[in-house]
Amino acid sequence: MEAAGDSAGARGGLLCVTGGSGFIGSWLVRLLLDRGYTVHATVKNLQDEGETKHLQALDGADTRLRLFQMDLLDPSSSMRPAIEGARGVFHLASPLTLHTQDPEKELLEPALKGTLSVLRAAKDCSVHRAVLMSSKSAMLPNPAWPADKVMVEDDCWADLELLRERQVQGTLSKTLAEKAAWEFAEKEGLQLVVLNPGTTLGPFFTPSVNTSLNILLQLLRGQELELDAVYTGWVDVRDVAQSAIVLYENPSAKGRHLCLASMERLVDFADKIADMYPEFPVHRIKADKQGWLMRDKEPSKKLIDLGVRFVPFDVTIRETVDCFRSEGLI
Ligand SMILES: NC(=O)c1ccc[n+]([C@@H]2O[C@H](COP(=O)([O-])OP(=O)(O)OC[C@H]3O[C@@H](n4cnc5c(N)ncnc54)[C@H](OP(=O)(O)O)[C@@H]3O)[C@@H](O)[C@H]2O)c1
Repeated sequence: MEAAGDSAGARGGLLCVTGGSGFIGSWLVRLLLDRGYTVHATVKNLQDEGETKHLQALDGADTRLRLFQMDLLDPSSSMRPAIEGARGVFHLASPLTLHTQDPEKELLEPALKGTLSVLRAAKDCSVHRAVLMSSKSAMLPNPAWPADKVMVEDDCWADLELLRERQVQGTLSKTLAEKAAWEFAEKEGLQLVVLNPGTTLGPFFTPSVNTSLNILLQLLRGQELELDAVYTGWVDVRDVAQSAIVLYENPSAKGRHLCLASMERLVDFADKIADMYPEFPVHRIKADKQGWLMRDKEPSKKLIDLGVRFVPFDVTIRETVDCFRSEGLI
């Protein structure tokens, strides 16, 4: 069999992870070190201990992890030093935020230009395979996609006009970035495979709470969620990191991969959290505004066929809540 990534039997070698300091990135770095790889991880600011200390504390980090400074918004910040010599690149670095002052500058530019710069460096450094962390947001919402039609990942793209109209800039930026990545890969002959995770939850060892974890935190604190345009279901962070590795290591993995433990509406999510945690003032959502979204217990068939098994909802939620408690956040 052709070795597209490193086959499971031949682990090791150098890999680069951009956005290694983040919620998903830190889990990916951790799992890669555990699997024997040497990792070059990028962080925005090497002087900021909040971005580096939790990575340097990982098992194997002292000998097999090297951190590089890389800012997608800084044109003088080169991607090459971190990527040089790597057999594979996982591109995760991207601003993840629901609210911005200047979406063009804060979201679109780093997502789009940043992705292309990383892929350009990957191509120039003869990287064997690149894994792009896109999002389920690059697939949905798409009103033209029948709600009862099972998702075919490679065909289903979020509707750009609708995203512009609703001003969901984060979703727009991820969709444009993924489209540009596919164009680049095809034109330049770069081996690319894409992961499209949903709202990612789970235990964290980053010193701060990112945007997706904050959704659960807000819910537990009794705040109302207005995410009808973006929420399509959750997935455990360890499954996202593991899926990215499976895509890298498995030569048969091709195209786009929806990564959701279950596809569900926001109303379902809030109800389940309210049922699990009656001691918290969870706001149940009364009006289901997500008629466009099919409910599906197995939306990630492509990943399941590659051997990925998803952590159950109550395990993910309890372990996330335990982390919130131990950090004194609730
Ligand atoms: N969490 C989710 O629900 C979810 C769902 C679908 C897709 N994703 C995608 O998964 C990836 C990782 O997200 P995450 O959940 O781990 O978010 P996160 O915790 O906010 O991490 C984002 C990472 O990107 C880095 N980054 C942001 N802006 C940057 C810039 N201008 N230059 C260089 N690096 C920059 C951050 O670096 P600093 O730590 O230095 O700021 C951090 O390492 C992103 O591509 C995101 O779009 C996430």
